[in-house]
Amino acid sequence: MDSNYNEIIENAYNFTKPIKDKGKLATYIPELANVNPSNFGVHMTKVDGTSFGIGDHLEKFSIQSISKVLSLALAVKFLGEDIWTRIDVEPSGTKFDSLLLLETYNGIPRNPFVNSGAIVICDILISHLENARQEFLEFVRDLSGIPDLNYSDKIADSEKATGFRNVALCNFIKSLGNIKNDPAVVLDFYFDMCSLEMNCQQLSHTFSFLANGGCKLKDGKEIITSSQAKRINALMLTCGFYDESGEFAFKVGLPGKSGVGGGIVALYPNNFTIAVWSPKLNANGNSYKGMKLLETVTTHSEMSIF
Ligand code: DON
Repeated sequence: MDSNYNEIIENAYNFTKPIKDKGKLATYIPELANVNPSNFGVHMTKVDGTSFGIGDHLEKFSIQSISKVLSLALAVKFLGEDIWTRIDVEPSGTKFDSLLLLETYNGIPRNPFVNSGAIVICDILISHLENARQEFLEFVRDLSGIPDLNYSDKIADSEKATGFRNVALCNFIKSLGNIKNDPAVVLDFYFDMCSLEMNCQQLSHTFSFLANGGCKLKDGKEIITSSQAKRINALMLTCGFYDESGEFAFKVGLPGKSGVGGGIVALYPNNFTIAVWSPKLNANGNSYKGMKLLETVTTHSEMSIF
């Protein structure tokens, strides 16, 4: 790797670390509150395969909604364009767990990254795969190169016991005809999917196929076509941060996706993937310091897509 990249990341990390963190831990999933709030790490993987990380970049955390990009990739891989009859591709302008627009749009979620959209993707995967839970896990194991990657029962059980809004979303969509399977089965898979754990290094490696025209960096294997990768990147840019997607594009200028575990992954097509983790979240459910760090990286390096 060009040593300049290491320096840019190191400087951004050192600049962001002492900033007062105005965020708060996600507590609505009780298990997520059991994390050290001062954890902070970042890792960049370049498409030439070199990488650099600093801080707590080797400590695992709950990737939560970041997994929605991977389930979308699997759905696109198997079903192609058909999925867009069930989910739209528009920013929602609402919180990630909002019920608001489902009634207006007759059970069609605004995009695959709000909870309602990700729940419909889970329903689609269950309809089309023999064992969606297992096949999704194997898909992510292959992408990440982590053979023993697994769902976290602790996190999933914690969310299964308290995820009443998601239960409401799934049942509401079912009542409008856009969930085909038993809502309890769909939700079980959704909660498991969100419970995957990775560290920043693994996350940036896993997502590098989206910076590399849909192909894995390691062996060049095509996961999805370059046109499908382009579409997923476009959705991350317009919808990856919920009601803060505009702000992220404005300040960072890269496609990305956040999770309530405090992780963010962002990428610059044909250049690099970067994953950052800091558990405290801003009011929109996105990592407070993670956003700041990425803004610093792209401002100082001028490495944004715009
Ligand atoms: O469904 C939920 O509420 C969580 N499993 C995922 C939400 C999430 O990560 C939103 N991201 N910022």
